Amino acid sequence: MSAFFLFLLLMKRIGVMTSGGDSPGMNACIRAVVRSAAYHGLEVMGIKRGYQGMIENDMELLQMKDVANILQYGGTFLKSARSKDFMTAQGRKIAYDNLVNNQVEALVCIGGNGTYTGAGIFYDEFGIPSIGAPGTIDNDLFGTDFTIGYDTAVNTALDAIDKIRDTADSHNRVFFIEVMGRDSGFIALNAGLAGGAEGILLPEIMNDFDDLIKHFDNKSKRKKEFSIIVVAEGETEGHAFQIADKFNALFPNNDIRVSVLGHIQRGGKPTANDRILASTLGNAAVEQLIAGNKNVCVGVVNNQVVCTSYNDAITQRKSINPILWNLSKILSH
Ligand code: F6P
Repeated sequence: MSAFFLFLLLMKRIGVMTSGGDSPGMNACIRAVVRSAAYHGLEVMGIKRGYQGMIENDMELLQMKDVANILQYGGTFLKSARSKDFMTAQGRKIAYDNLVNNQVEALVCIGGNGTYTGAGIFYDEFGIPSIGAPGTIDNDLFGTDFTIGYDTAVNTALDAIDKIRDTADSHNRVFFIEVMGRDSGFIALNAGLAGGAEGILLPEIMNDFDDLIKHFDNKSKRKKEFSIIVVAEGETEGHAFQIADKFNALFPNNDIRVSVLGHIQRGGKPTANDRILASTLGNAAVEQLIAGNKNVCVGVVNNQVVCTSYNDAITQRKSINPILWNLSKILSH
């Protein structure tokens, strides 16, 4: 029997952790990992605060009861962190020693780019196999149509946009609403389209601010009195306040307000879509480990579970949907 199959037969305990920015649905994913592992006779060590908890030996065995009644909650009951210590060779060595001492043989790492990068380096240095699951509201990971938490974040942003629209209408104001997404415009495009925004500014689109200006130059013809402009936080033209200032310099007669939605987009009950995605991918991650796969992240593409290497997931950029972008331009012209 090869050493590889022997490892699979002997694998008894895996670890699960959430790392990086939290996202709604992480709890549902942890639950799916623990329940799927138990189904296959594996123990699961819950590692607190991602890589930081690994370094600080902050981990405990999770039983089925520990993940009861959590799938409907936002946040992550394992907590999360962006560990600076894990970026050092010394920190990773301590983390490895703690995993060995706790008999953790493989990992499910729920998070985004930074989480996958850390998991890849950890395998290269210490041979700890892992499977990643895409937990981030930004939807910026290649290898999955949607990331866990993105759908909830879009709906949270949309709810806020709808509310701001009421007051924008009452006061005939131009609102610049900044949404999260780091350097990606997925939340901005989808929440902006669903919220009927008159303008959407995305890091992926060049000259979008100039186009917005042209649009407002022509606007008097339409006699529209209030406007919603959704700005992705990574927009190359600047943050919403800077953009509002530039806009104000050109259109001083408008009554302008800015609203930065911020971390409200990271919390809240996960939508049904996010719970289903999280459950599917938590289960898939465990089954991939059992099948002997490693150094890949799981995702759903065209309704199929797929695996993508960490390297591809990190280095390849997922494009925004050009059909939705064109649609937003047509509907707001
Ligand atoms: O990656 C998720 C995210 O919420 C980004 O949209 C945002 O840029 C960043 O995290 C904020 O990070 P922090 O909570 O560490 O300020």
